[in-house]
Amino acid sequence: MKKIVVFTGAGVSAESGLGTFRDSDGLWEKYRVEDICTHEAWLRNPQLCVDFYNARRRDTLAAQPNAAHLALTRLQQAFPTMEIITQNIDDLHERAGSRNITHLHGEITKLRSENNETATVPLQGWEQHYGDRHPDGSLLRPYIVFFGEGVPYFSQACAIASTADIMIVVGTSLNVYPAASLLQYVPDKAPIYFVDPGMPEFGMYRDRITHIRKKASEGVPELVNQLIGQ
Ligand code: APR
Repeated sequence: MKKIVVFTGAGVSAESGLGTFRDSDGLWEKYRVEDICTHEAWLRNPQLCVDFYNARRRDTLAAQPNAAHLALTRLQQAFPTMEIITQNIDDLHERAGSRNITHLHGEITKLRSENNETATVPLQGWEQHYGDRHPDGSLLRPYIVFFGEGVPYFSQACAIASTADIMIVVGTSLNVYPAASLLQYVPDKAPIYFVDPGMPEFGMYRDRITHIRKKASEGVPELVNQLIGQ
């Protein structure tokens, strides 16, 4: 049974209506990272951070998994050892029925202790009320890895990538490290399929990548059908 590892970015959720970051209409075209997605921003203006992630949480709860998420679940049913590593904070992979998911940059449906990066609590609904506290007594903050913070599950993700017989990458510009360096851990013998309508900077991986230059909702189901043999 081949081991498939899937690595996704904002592009897999774009057709569910959730914005990407660096496309022309991306979130970082509308907001300054230094205002809402750094630890300094959180210390300087926590309410602005809470409001920003409340709005994204509301959008996430209103969104539905798209054909790409659903096709990946179908693939995992055919290849039960498949694992998903995502940069996304939405829960669309989970809501599509996928399991064995590692979130590198946090999860919008959870909050975390100010004191402990992996001490999380679930959040019901879309609204965090700034000032609520974690059982450990510290202030609760969005469970998001801010720029400049450590990525707690990165080494776990590298270990998973190193087991891949087949690597599938969907919808990421490969702009953010250490996440983008995950491809270094994929064994040389493993083919890398990259579904993205844009032209991410493949760099040193160029010769190993089969680029399926299509939107996720079209390219992923086609690739899944090919891999399942339909
Ligand atoms: N289907 C597939 N890919 C798409 C689609 C689509 N419908 N629409 C856009 N894309 C691709 C773009 O071509 C681009 O390569 O999705 C990618 C989005 O890139 P980014 O906006 O940079 O998102 P991502 O790579 O996930 O960003 C990584 O940066 O801001 C941080 O923490 C944030 O996890 C995020 C990280």
